[in-house]
Amino acid sequence: MEQYCPPAHVLIFPFPAQGHVNSMLKLAELLGLAGIHVTFLNTDFIHERLVRYTDIETRFSCCPGFQFKTISDGLSADHPRSLIKFIEVYDSLNSKTKLLLREMLASNQLIGSNTRPSLTCIIVDGLIGGFTSDIANEFRIPIIYFRSISASCFWAYFSVPKIIEAGEIPIRGNEDMDRLITTVPSMESFLRYRDLPSFCQVNDLNHCNLHIFVTETQQSPRAHALILNTFEDLEGPVLSHIRTHCSKVYTIGPLHTHLKFRLEAKTSSSQSQSSNNLYEVDKSCMTWLDAQPLKSVIYVSFGSITTITKDEHMEFWFGLVNSKQRFLWVVRSDLVVGEHNRNEVPEELLKGTKERGYIVSWAPQEEVLAHHAIGGFLTHSGWNSTLESIVAGVPMICWPFIGDQQLNSRFVSEIWKLGLDMKDACDRFIVEKMVNDLMGRRRELFMKSTNEMAWLARKSVSEGGSSYYNLDRLVKDIRLMSMEAD
Ligand code: UDX
Repeated sequence: MEQYCPPAHVLIFPFPAQGHVNSMLKLAELLGLAGIHVTFLNTDFIHERLVRYTDIETRFSCCPGFQFKTISDGLSADHPRSLIKFIEVYDSLNSKTKLLLREMLASNQLIGSNTRPSLTCIIVDGLIGGFTSDIANEFRIPIIYFRSISASCFWAYFSVPKIIEAGEIPIRGNEDMDRLITTVPSMESFLRYRDLPSFCQVNDLNHCNLHIFVTETQQSPRAHALILNTFEDLEGPVLSHIRTHCSKVYTIGPLHTHLKFRLEAKTSSSQSQSSNNLYEVDKSCMTWLDAQPLKSVIYVSFGSITTITKDEHMEFWFGLVNSKQRFLWVVRSDLVVGEHNRNEVPEELLKGTKERGYIVSWAPQEEVLAHHAIGGFLTHSGWNSTLESIVAGVPMICWPFIGDQQLNSRFVSEIWKLGLDMKDACDRFIVEKMVNDLMGRRRELFMKSTNEMAWLARKSVSEGGSSYYNLDRLVKDIRLMSMEAD
């Protein structure tokens, strides 16, 4: 006789920012497809934007076990919730939202209806894992960490106490940015000071950003398991190190492709798209792309939180136009700090853009990268963008802005050989040269590795692949927890 297995119910709680919500919603959809009840907890601010710019309400209404709940981030309505205010957002979550979460758990508000099972476990974004774990422990609910960064970046944050012990940070005076950091196991030969996550490049060890990222990461072994949006063939060596500290590590990425594959298997449709945008998507660029020759366009996007100065904007713009390559550029309304007066923009830029370029404020990125006209990606090296480019087999020029991006760009160029690292430079001549190198002169150099890595990424999420297998293990693990709790 088959053993009765009570339905499992997971609470998923992301850090309120585009890259985090996007990947955790994909995880939520995957668990929902596996028959697990999911309560997805968004801050009011994020949820309102998702409802405004995506089809999440209709998309998830078809999943009977799925519900959204919202919680306040504790900030005033006019707070910008931008990266420069990261500490304010983080502190508010750690104080005000924390109390609300406790209240919601105490009053069973996160269950929803009588037919929904009680919570089996909480999957929390590791960036807000500390306070959520404390509360989960109070209520005796097992907790699983999810990190939206690469395994390599996780490992670098995890190794910071060793780096400090060896005196390799803090920075002292005029540093040689190319100095090797020798105390992160498996990265001894190539990790330079400039490749450390930006929050580690400090001259004061008490800097709050460093403290937050290191403390939150160091707590990961407390969790029942750790979920990473990566795949074994991409980050195997680093994953072995992480596994010596965290006993259960589920690598189930690239999540966007994994979800697409599983949806296609279930619905036999090849049109499965799950958009989780916090911005209004301008699809007109797809029509423009349709009219461009094969692999002739460089796609330029700096993700959801990067900001650039007016001068940097001009350097990129001149570099792109002067390269004479076709380009599709995402210029978010809040990308450039300080408004340009249209008269300030040189005529040659407007002319060059009209001839060979297209600018939108937000693009359907996954679709763009998969388009046959795209030949390269000038990116800020956010982890989601990096994975999306890998799967699409598109070589990259990396211009990392903040946090994990500094480290991702080093791996893209030096270890995976998937592109060029423009790090710490923002100059029209360098932009022009790198664009031409990637799109023409040195293209062949990258195509073999990008094709191979794209193939490995797809293999990992196909039946029999490592991420496919690990997701099934994760689902089993969650079900087992629900049996033990019953
Ligand atoms: C940042 C970090 O750098 C990232 O590594 C971390 O995991 C989350 O926070 P962000 O700047 O949002 O992320 O970049 P990224 O991780 O690349 O995520 C951006 C997402 O927005 C991608 O999924 C991308 O497809 C999407 N996007 C971006 C669009 O859909 N359209 C656009 O025009 C631009």
